[in-house]
Amino acid sequence: MSAQRQQTQRLAAPDITARKGKTPIVCLTAYTAPIAELLDDACDLLLVGDSVGMVVHGLPNTVGVTLEMMILHGQAVMRGSKQAMVVVDMPFGTYEAGAELAFANATRLLKETGAQAVKVEAGAYVGDTIAYLVKRGIPVMGHVGLRPQAVNVDGRFRAKGRTKEERAAVLAEAKAADDAGAFAIVVEGVDETLAPEITAAVKAPTIGIGASAKCDGQILVTDDMLGLFEWTPKFVRRYANLKAEIDKAVASYAADVRARRFPAAAETYALGGGKARLPRVARDDKHS
Ligand code: KIV
Repeated sequence: MSAQRQQTQRLAAPDITARKGKTPIVCLTAYTAPIAELLDDACDLLLVGDSVGMVVHGLPNTVGVTLEMMILHGQAVMRGSKQAMVVVDMPFGTYEAGAELAFANATRLLKETGAQAVKVEAGAYVGDTIAYLVKRGIPVMGHVGLRPQAVNVDGRFRAKGRTKEERAAVLAEAKAADDAGAFAIVVEGVDETLAPEITAAVKAPTIGIGASAKCDGQILVTDDMLGLFEWTPKFVRRYANLKAEIDKAVASYAADVRARRFPAAAETYALGGGKARLPRVARDDKHS
């Protein structure tokens, strides 16, 4: 009952869809409980993106990401958040071969994480699969344009829609996802004039990344916008420079350890009445 109550406090797929053409939808990626907790208030939607493979696990692209990785990170993000809708990416190889396989894997993602929807990289051929999932109770977010899971076909991550043929292909992908009932569609890495065209052509709200301010919402990889990496794609705006802060903090810590300035007396447990408090586990064990 209390779990049910908690679930209904979150934004859900129909709330996101209803924002089409209204106040822009704020989305960010999250992979861990503490980051989800930090982002939850400001965001409408948290995406447990398969970018976790590159950002957290050091993979060269998203192709090696597994369902088990997505489940583990999805669980963490659900624990850390309360009000944002949580969407989990279906990793490469878990949905492309057919609707039944996709349903089995999407079901695992929703059951084992408690997240409310899945995202698929929606080549036009995935339309039937999206329809199959939606009809059976699984909200689906589409992802068109630059589809990172197709990196081995494309050869590299490359913006899409710069030729007439490519524009038509991306528009067709978006329309297929929309006709199939996707509740929202991520539009990634497309020519700036194409994103508004897609936004006007589909019923679902579009969520831009490297697309255009004229989408119905925006998403960024959180670690990129917080400045945790030296290099970021052109479309990322850095809202902080945490890498520099972390470099500075770690250098100070290393210098203090080497000079025996850390820990100081106040940071140690003094036997016989010192003020330092033991951690909760030790206190509860009555070792203090
Ligand atoms: O995996 C991911 O983080 C994504 C977003 C960049 C949209 O798909």
